[in-house]
Amino acid sequence: MTKKKTILSGIQPSGKLHIGNYFGAIRQHIAMQDQGDAFYFIANYHSLTSLNDGKKLYQNTIDVTLDYLALGLNPEKATFFAQSDVPQVTELAWILATLTPVSLMEKGVSYKDKIAAGLSPNIGLFTYPILQAADILIYHSDVVPVGEDQKQNIEICRDLAGKFNRAYDGEFLIIPEEYIVKSVAVVPGTDGRKMSKSYKNTIPMFEEGKPLKKVLMSIETDSKALEEPKDPEKDNVFALIKLFADESKQTEIADKYRAGGYGYGHAKLELLELVEEYFADAREKRKELEQDLNYVMDVLTEGGKKARERAESVMEPIREVTGLVRNF
Ligand code: ADP
Ligand code: TRP
Repeated sequence: MTKKKTILSGIQPSGKLHIGNYFGAIRQHIAMQDQGDAFYFIANYHSLTSLNDGKKLYQNTIDVTLDYLALGLNPEKATFFAQSDVPQVTELAWILATLTPVSLMEKGVSYKDKIAAGLSPNIGLFTYPILQAADILIYHSDVVPVGEDQKQNIEICRDLAGKFNRAYDGEFLIIPEEYIVKSVAVVPGTDGRKMSKSYKNTIPMFEEGKPLKKVLMSIETDSKALEEPKDPEKDNVFALIKLFADESKQTEIADKYRAGGYGYGHAKLELLELVEEYFADAREKRKELEQDLNYVMDVLTEGGKKARERAESVMEPIREVTGLVRNF
């Protein structure tokens, strides 16, 4: 029998999750819990690079856990935990940092993007990919499902695993593969740029009613008049509709765009209905779970325990081969 693949991914608790996170990553995470040994964690150490408000970070951690459980994460199948419950991660991150050329970090696109978006250029942000590499390598992960923007970080992780294995002459770390679903690799935000918390252009997943309507109505479009025919493939609203509608509904709406007499306002209302329907069950489930926070805490506690056990088994030979503990 071949060994079950280890699937791992993380998500930062730095704000409300949005539909870019969902289609780009979370949906795959939930589907993959049936396909291998899945580990999903809340990257709270990573969020410290941009959020220095303890209460908020903690609340976001609970919120992300609620979101995942509501969306179908099954803790019997997948190990779900907080990054900070596994101290072996920061231990490995330091060891990897000693093998990381400064020039490798200087090539980091994500760092440059974040600085450009106004984040403070702290060393944690600069070395963020090293901690991310440790996150992945500490569980001997095989596959990492993420959105397109994480591609470079996974490449850095592979690079660092190779450097460690060569430096210590053995297969101590497993070189992982990324898993990116091309059709949803970059979900656009309300302004047409990549949807991202840092750009303030998100459509939060668990928003509903009036606040959701307000966000959807703010999606930027061109200024074609109501009666003019429109090209659906050039429109932001339609790009989002495609995520939610089945094929026949997509064709029906695309035809209306092309025929004219159908405005962007109409399309936005259609999108509103689709979003409400798509997440209706998850929203109900989330409200139920909010009443049972003890359960939510138990999920994190149990998940942390399992994750630590796996991490410790990977860390032990590393401590020995690096000479941090006696192995002779
Ligand atoms: P944000 O850019 O809003 O801070 P994160 O960096 O926390 O989002 O991303 C969490 C996960 O969601 C990652 O796997 C990322 O690739 C994915 N993701 C984020 N935004 C998008 C998007 N607009 N399209 C596709 N995937 C996305
Ligand atoms: N950098 C990822 C993001 O912003 C979050 C993350 C941290 C992650 N560690 C990871 C993703 C390990 C995959 C694997 O979305």
